[in-house]
Amino acid sequence: MASKRKKIAVIGGDGIGPSVTQEASLLLALYRDKAGLPIDLWELDLGADRFLRDGVTFPKEIQIAIQRECSAVLLGALGDPRVPGLEHARDILFGMRFGYDLYANVRPVKALSDRLVPLKDRTMKDVDFVVFRENTEGIYVGMGGQFKRGTPDEVAINEDLNTRKGVERIIRAAFEYAKQNKREHVCMADKSNAMRHAHELWLRVFDEVRREYPTIKSQHLYVDALCLHVIQNPAQFQVVVTNNLFGDIVTDLGAALQGGLGMAASANIHSSDPGRVALFEPVHGSAPPLAGKDIANPFAALLTVGMLLTHLGWPEEERRIEQCVSQAIDERMCTVDVGGHLGTRAAAQWVREQIAKQL
Ligand code: NAD
Ligand code: IPM
Ligand code: MN
Repeated sequence: MASKRKKIAVIGGDGIGPSVTQEASLLLALYRDKAGLPIDLWELDLGADRFLRDGVTFPKEIQIAIQRECSAVLLGALGDPRVPGLEHARDILFGMRFGYDLYANVRPVKALSDRLVPLKDRTMKDVDFVVFRENTEGIYVGMGGQFKRGTPDEVAINEDLNTRKGVERIIRAAFEYAKQNKREHVCMADKSNAMRHAHELWLRVFDEVRREYPTIKSQHLYVDALCLHVIQNPAQFQVVVTNNLFGDIVTDLGAALQGGLGMAASANIHSSDPGRVALFEPVHGSAPPLAGKDIANPFAALLTVGMLLTHLGWPEEERRIEQCVSQAIDERMCTVDVGGHLGTRAAAQWVREQIAKQL
């Protein structure tokens, strides 16, 4: 009989990645062992250490095996000062985002406690929107080159690639999400006033797709104005859709409204083929100065497990994880970046204990 078990590849990566991912893996193991969820974990040794040891970044056979056998990948973070060219990080991260065509980078900007919202007179109810970041195109495709490098005449070019198919599918994914999750408003952000060619396409496609969703209010903003409004009144946003680069920047800005990067989770999915392997990672990077000190906030990684479990069909567990993290913040059973006094391991363990009591 074919196994119904779901295999999850786990890649800790670099810097604080392995320690927060270890805590997230222990949460998955708790679900497997205590709640009986049919999941198996497959730990992979990939990252800067491996690259420096034997030159391996993301072997083709691993990329294929993940695609064939896994339902999800849980990733910590990639980036190490010993690899200034970030070759391994690009091969692994983009190897999955581009290689598996995971075009929707879904990044919730949700504050889990009033205390974490840094804006005057704003509370957690004001910070609750989801960014749909295009994840397979834009300036991230690496098209371009350098000419006369190292001379006074040098030229450096990165092309911004936007396809009709790519723009349309991410905008549609944002509207579908709004429809399925009873969100009434979708905002598309671009820079079509400056980038006439590429972003006029975004404007035109947005205008076409929004007509298919007459019950959902839609709005266009230039991305600079979006940044202003997100700080002035975050409550006006429910779903934001934008390109790869702007989505990267806007979600770090959004993380600041959630209590910092230690609180921001994300999913990389192929929205219209949910059976395909998907990638789950905190929004934060490898934070090299925090590595190995047991001080990094593990909650972004735990909340990322929540998104993973929703994707695999257990949405009530994402709600439970969110609620227990929120309780940890309120009771200050958390790391110093969010006003607590615990280390990475102790904070994560406290949350797992609350979850374990409920399973
Ligand atoms: P970063 O996200 O690592 O750190 C930015 C700031 O947030 C730092 O002040 C850091 O201390 C803080 N921070 C991040 N995560 C935290 C956590 N869990 N708990 C508490 N504080 C936290 O971004 P950076 O410094 O620009 O980049 C460091 C490296 O990570 C670079 O090599 C970069 O390319 C890489 N990076 C990787 C990913 C990824 O793998 N998905 C994402 C972002 C950056
Ligand atoms: C992120 C990161 C990556 C990105 C880097 C590491 C290439 O900042 O996941 O937000 O820009 O997508
Ligand atoms: Mn980023």
